[in-house]
Amino acid sequence: MRVLVTGSSGFLGAAVVRALLARGDTAIGFDTQARHDGSADGRLVQVKGDIADSKQVTQAVTAHGPDAVIHCAAIVSVLSSVDSPVQIVRVNIEGSLNVFEAMRVGQVKRCIHISSEEAYGAFRADKVDETHPLDPVMPYGICKAAVEQFGRTYRDLHGLEVINLRPSWVYGPGLPRARIPKNLIDAALAGQKLHIASGADSAIDHTYVDDAVAAIIAALDHPHHRYDAYNVGSGTAVSVAELIAIVRELVPGAELSVGPGPYRHGDRIEIVKKGALDVSRAAAEFGWRPRFDIRAGLAAYVKAVREQQTISRN
Ligand SMILES: NC(=O)c1ccc[n+]([C@@H]2O[C@H](COP(=O)([O-])OP(=O)(O)OC[C@H]3O[C@@H](n4cnc5c(N)ncnc54)[C@H](O)[C@@H]3O)[C@@H](O)[C@H]2O)c1
Repeated sequence: MRVLVTGSSGFLGAAVVRALLARGDTAIGFDTQARHDGSADGRLVQVKGDIADSKQVTQAVTAHGPDAVIHCAAIVSVLSSVDSPVQIVRVNIEGSLNVFEAMRVGQVKRCIHISSEEAYGAFRADKVDETHPLDPVMPYGICKAAVEQFGRTYRDLHGLEVINLRPSWVYGPGLPRARIPKNLIDAALAGQKLHIASGADSAIDHTYVDDAVAAIIAALDHPHHRYDAYNVGSGTAVSVAELIAIVRELVPGAELSVGPGPYRHGDRIEIVKKGALDVSRAAAEFGWRPRFDIRAGLAAYVKAVREQQTISRN
């Protein structure tokens, strides 16, 4: 299979590219930054391009003729979406439309679009399934919901099949942003004290990166989707205080603490009420189930960072 992966140099996109190559597929990476250095017996093609530039996306699709697209490219930050809403609309909405248009022109049918649980806005229950209303409040989530809806329009008008995966917060080795649990693990392993000003009670579902990649590949492979949206998470929400307790068990002596109240993006923007994602639809439809609960995921993450640190020292 030939798969075009947008955002192929990012945290999730790069892991997806590795998974595709590992099973013998050809990956066409499309990103503003080059990360992979080609090769893998010619099964890895790296295109440097901007999804906000329609010509570049169309050219990549027509030149490389993928069988499907995994769309990971985006500005991934609630905080930047609040600070620069126009920029996030340009990349996350217009860029996604450029991807859909290029697929229409190049006659590529299936797109696995990495949406987000942010599309739900404030959770109206402690655990939500895909029938929860899309009522996003942050520009980042508004863009995700808009792209999902454009995907439905492209399905009805042009026969595209846009499958929206809605992961909760993805974590694991290589997580590029300074938020929980990365900041907790980095501080713990560096022997540094870390106090997060607020967030003790915010309960959030976290997805281990390997589970997110497995869900993306399973959705790509599933021959017939009855639904166009699937939650991807661990199925359980944990408070920031619980996260800290687990990291302290994994790194004895870690000096981590959190103040009361809701968690804030970048210590500034209060998160909306979150909770657990019900992941039973993906399990029932295409057999994907999370393999990592939060304890197993954090243990794997800490182990990987420790190994990386040992390699860097030697
Ligand atoms: N990581 C998470 O917690 C999480 C949770 C839910 C959904 N998602 C979604 O998953 C996808 C991947 O997220 P990630 O964590 O890998 O983010 P990331 O920031 O690591 O990767 C995004 C990639 O997109 C690329 N990119 C940005 N703008 C681009 C443009 N204009 N043209 C081409 N490439 C561009 C970046 O260079 C980067 O390599 C995103 O759509 C994100 O919204 C992520």
